[in-house]
Amino acid sequence: MADILPEREALSRAVALLREGAAIAIPTETVYGLAADATNGEAVTRIYETKGRPQFNPLIAHVADSAMAERIAVFSPLARKLADAFWPGPLTLVLPHRSGSGVHPLVTAGLDTIALRCPRGFGARAITALGRPLAAPSANTSGRISGTTAEAVEADLGARIPLIVDGGATPVGLESTILKVEQDRITLLRPGGVAAEEIERVSGLPVARGATGVQAPGMLASHYAPNAHMRLNVKSVAPNEALLAFGPRRVHGAEGAVAVRNLSETGNLREAATNLFSHLLALDQSDAATIAAEPVPLEGLGEAINDRLVRAAAPRDS
Ligand code: TXA
Ligand code: MG
Repeated sequence: MADILPEREALSRAVALLREGAAIAIPTETVYGLAADATNGEAVTRIYETKGRPQFNPLIAHVADSAMAERIAVFSPLARKLADAFWPGPLTLVLPHRSGSGVHPLVTAGLDTIALRCPRGFGARAITALGRPLAAPSANTSGRISGTTAEAVEADLGARIPLIVDGGATPVGLESTILKVEQDRITLLRPGGVAAEEIERVSGLPVARGATGVQAPGMLASHYAPNAHMRLNVKSVAPNEALLAFGPRRVHGAEGAVAVRNLSETGNLREAATNLFSHLLALDQSDAATIAAEPVPLEGLGEAINDRLVRAAAPRDS
C-alpha cells in the first residue's frame, strides 16, 4: 500500500524514490500526476505498467523552468512567448525534440516532438531537487477518471505505488491545455486548464482546432470513464438517475434524482472545472446506473469541460 505524506514533509522521500526509478503520485495544479524520472527508461516503463496504458501513448515531460525546457526542445519566438505568459501553469507545449536531451525515447513514443509543461508547486520543487525532468501522466488507471485528490489516487492506484504526496484538492481540476506550436501556427491538441481564448489573446493568433492523426492519442474516445452511463445536455432527469448540475437553475425532475452535485451554483466555469472529476466520481459512487449532466456553455474553460463530458459519455467495451 502507498504511504501518503503531506507535501510539506514529502520532498526528500519523494526525490529519493524518484532517484531509485520509482513511479509516485504527486499533486500538480491540474490533476495528480504519476511521476517518474523521464531520463530513466525503467522508471518510465513503471508508469505505463502502473496505469495499464498502451505503450504508443507519449507522455508529458515536466520541467522546473524555461532553462530546463530549452535544453530539451527547440523554442520558436512564438513558443517562448506562450511559455513566458503561462508557465508555471496548466499549459503543455508540443515542440521539436532536441537530440541528446537525455529524455528517454519511451516518453515521446518515437515521435520527433516532445510535450513539455512547467508545473507550479510541489512538482516544480521535486524536479529542481532531482535535477531532471519528470514524465507524468494523470495518476489514474488508463481510461478512468483523473485523480484530483490524494484519496481518489489511493483508491485507484494505492496498491501499486510506494508513495502518494498529498497536496489537497488540485486547484484547476482538469488536465493542461496541449498546444502544438509551429513557427506561426498554434493547434489545439487537447482543451484544458488554459482557455483557447486566453491563448489567442496572448499570441494574437487564431488557435486551430480539429487536429488529425496521432497528435494526442491520450484522447481516446472513452478516456474519462465512470462506471455509470452518461447522458449529456439533459433537459430533465429521471428518478433513478444522478444529476451533474451546473448553475443556479435546475432541470425538470431534479428534486427526484438519486444524487445531485452542482459543478458551480453561480455558473462559474473555473469552479466547474475544479469540481468536474471529483463530482463525477461522487455521482458514480451513488450507484445510479446513469449520470445526467445539465448543459455547460462551450466558451472559455467550458470547452475543456464539455470535451471531458463527451469522452465520459462515449460508448465503451467494459
Ligand atoms: O495536466 C496535465 O497535463 C497532467 C498533469 C499530471 O501534468 N498530465 C497529463 O498527461 O494529462 P497525460 O500523459 O495523461 O497526457 C499527455 C497527453 C496525451 O494525450 C498524449 O497523447 C499527448 O499528451 N502528447 C504527449 N506527447 C505528445 C507529442 N509529442 N505530440 C502530441 N501529443 C503528445
Ligand atoms: Mg490522463
